[in-house]
Amino acid sequence: MTLTRRSFLGTAGLAGVALAGTRGLTAETLEAVQDTLRRPSGPADVVARDEAYWRRVAGAYKVSPDFTNMEAGYFGMMAAPVLAEYHRQIDRVNLQSSYYARRQWSAEAEAARARTAEFLGAAPGEIVLTRGATEALQRLIVQYNKLEPGDVVMYADLDYGAMQLAMNSLVERRGAVLAQFNIPEPATRDNVLAAYDTALKANPRVKLLLLTHLNNKTGLVIPVKDIVAMARARGADSIVDAAHSFGQMDLKLDDMGADFVGCNLHKWIGAPVGIGVMYIKAGRLGDIDRMLGDDGSEARIESRLHTGTTNFATTLTVPAAIDFHDAVGAAYKPARIRYLRDRWVNAVRRTPGVDILTPDDRDMVAGITSFRIRGRGSREDNQAVAAELLDRYKLFTVWRTGLSQGDCVRVTPSLYNTPADADRLAEALTAIARR
Ligand SMILES: Cc1ncc(COP(=O)(O)O)c(C=O)c1O
Repeated sequence: MTLTRRSFLGTAGLAGVALAGTRGLTAETLEAVQDTLRRPSGPADVVARDEAYWRRVAGAYKVSPDFTNMEAGYFGMMAAPVLAEYHRQIDRVNLQSSYYARRQWSAEAEAARARTAEFLGAAPGEIVLTRGATEALQRLIVQYNKLEPGDVVMYADLDYGAMQLAMNSLVERRGAVLAQFNIPEPATRDNVLAAYDTALKANPRVKLLLLTHLNNKTGLVIPVKDIVAMARARGADSIVDAAHSFGQMDLKLDDMGADFVGCNLHKWIGAPVGIGVMYIKAGRLGDIDRMLGDDGSEARIESRLHTGTTNFATTLTVPAAIDFHDAVGAAYKPARIRYLRDRWVNAVRRTPGVDILTPDDRDMVAGITSFRIRGRGSREDNQAVAAELLDRYKLFTVWRTGLSQGDCVRVTPSLYNTPADADRLAEALTAIARR
């Protein structure tokens, strides 16, 4: 069965196809997706440049004609078959209402959890589905119970603002002492490792470290497994913020080596907005308090995070999002996004006046990369650059703040972007930097 572009995007048709079950796209829909995509095979860096393939993939996303979205870092658009499944689940749950919630929800939520766990490389009992990375990470941080008064908790300038605040709250909650340091700019593998090493040595009482794996401010990917090991050797635990990692990179939880991780599925897995994961490695449950006196079983992760009534349809759509992600190719998708990033970065890397805030080291960057026009590090400067990119060039990016060296503009391509978009951005930056 081959879908035309029109029927591929037509939610009504696909909603009719995807009828039963919560285990993702039905076999028939999946077959239709695979027929339409006709995914090539071969090394990821070769497939990343197969424009005919990526045109077919882009055809699964209905994008606004009014601007070019290069700000996929906020949340990821659902592909049409996933959106159709989401609509179907909303209709289905709404039709049956509490009859559904009382009789079917538990088993179906469990199936969604099992599929997510398999995708991330965890056991189902090591994860709980949350409303996003924030909820997961906040719980991990404030319920971490191994801190004694005077113990140090630490994070860097590049870590996510809300998680920095949660770490700050440990001063009052647990009598902790706060330590902060800056990640060097420009960053290299060696200077990032050295910065963590120095900060750990300078604070021998560090017990808890917050690590942002793939950074939301610059796009930097830190050597997280090495840093977790380095901290562990000094008696410190790490909580890893992996909000941008899964889907933008092809990896499993083991690749991070961390015992506590929070992430979402609505950025790079393409699930509906409002879904994330809290991971606590087997054997570490005792180090995270039960939530607000939850008297659920001490031995079950559910007692560590209690969301209450949730958007059923969002959870039920996760397996379909994973199906679509896998159909595009778990290794091909990151390679394509990285290719689009390299395309604009390579074009302006040597342009006088444009500072690129991520290295090209293939292990230290993915799709996100921020830039700063040299000497223009204020909020106003960067908001003005983002505004000009939108107003004059119709390129939507976003201003970011909180870096020790000054603000910047973040660029995040996704599967609906083209090399021509990256080229237009590079031309625009060259023109802006020249002034
Ligand atoms: C690094 C980082 N951590 C955490 C979050 C919060 O994620 P969520 O919006 O899923 O709660 C974000 C969101 O942008 C992020 O970029």
